[in-house]
Amino acid sequence: MLILGIETSCDETAGAVLKDNEKILSSIIFSQNKLHSPYGGVVPEVAARKHIEIIIPVISEALSKAKIDLKEIDLIAVTTGPGLITSLMIGVDTAKALAFSLKKPIVGINHLEAHIYSNFLPPQELKKEFFPLLCLVVSGGHTELVLMRNFNDYKNIGGTRDDAAGESFDKVAKLLKIGYPGGPIISKLADLGNSKAFAFPRPMIKSEDFDFSFSGLKTDVLRLVKKRKGRFSDQEIKNICASFQAAVVDVLVTKVIKAAQKYKIKNIALAGGVAANKLLRKRLKEALDKSVSDLRLFLPQLEFCTDNAAMVALAGYYRAKRNELDQVFKIKAEANLDLG
Ligand code: KG4
Ligand code: ZN
Repeated sequence: MLILGIETSCDETAGAVLKDNEKILSSIIFSQNKLHSPYGGVVPEVAARKHIEIIIPVISEALSKAKIDLKEIDLIAVTTGPGLITSLMIGVDTAKALAFSLKKPIVGINHLEAHIYSNFLPPQELKKEFFPLLCLVVSGGHTELVLMRNFNDYKNIGGTRDDAAGESFDKVAKLLKIGYPGGPIISKLADLGNSKAFAFPRPMIKSEDFDFSFSGLKTDVLRLVKKRKGRFSDQEIKNICASFQAAVVDVLVTKVIKAAQKYKIKNIALAGGVAANKLLRKRLKEALDKSVSDLRLFLPQLEFCTDNAAMVALAGYYRAKRNELDQVFKIKAEANLDLG
């Protein structure tokens, strides 16, 4: 089966072609980071206009790189939500137009589900024995702990009460005026900083539930910036980055381990843009190695942590295999689409 994946939920315009769950024939990602960088965050109107301009060229490039003609595609998989509604609509309407005119099957994919599947892109196959799978989805829009009990069976066991993990990286980077997106920039500077230089709090680390809260941490950085009138040495900026990153990672790792223990989970997966964070990957690996029970950790390849269409195509493959297709006229973009 040849699957065309389409992703436009935020500020990446992406198209990919997958052959079953065996081979990624192409994955084209047009990142709009540079466009939104002057604003320190995504401007929805700007993102939507760029998606409109670039979506057909991106799909066309994905097909030509895969050496596949549009007519040969067996399934179209598209992200329907959650995300920015004006961005989502462009991918969804493009997919619908293609499916309708070419009379191809179509399937709508939840963006969080797609992120989870990024762990199982070839060569790592998703096997039934990996369920129940505990997934920490950490991106610019989400911080969710999801229990995947089977294919298409998700239970949300916790989430952020305010800012998402990635959002807090982006906001802190904006406060420090070091660029956008904040995650990769903070992570790079943190490598050169002292993570103990500033004692930032670990919000909700001791709470019994599996919820998160990151806005207070951002406010702490804001207070520091105000107190110092934004004047920091280069080394101090690196130290703030390292201390802030350590606080976020501490909370995330602690909650994942607690949840794994409570739900007696053996398989854990990390997903979303923040899954690219080196410290988070390292600390999670170390924590699982130390754990008494035999835990297995799945990590997406770095290039598939942030938004891409290969993960959408793969989620589509598993839906199609289980006959969970959608009707072309019924499919629609939903900004607040729930998982499950
Ligand atoms: O999954 P994604 O591409 O988009 C959403 O679905 O939101 O995630 C983007 C987010 C941004 O907030 C970005 O700052 C963060 O992922 N991010 C990182 C890293 N790379 C990207 N955060 C921490 N460390 C990184 N290395
Ligand atoms: Zn995403």
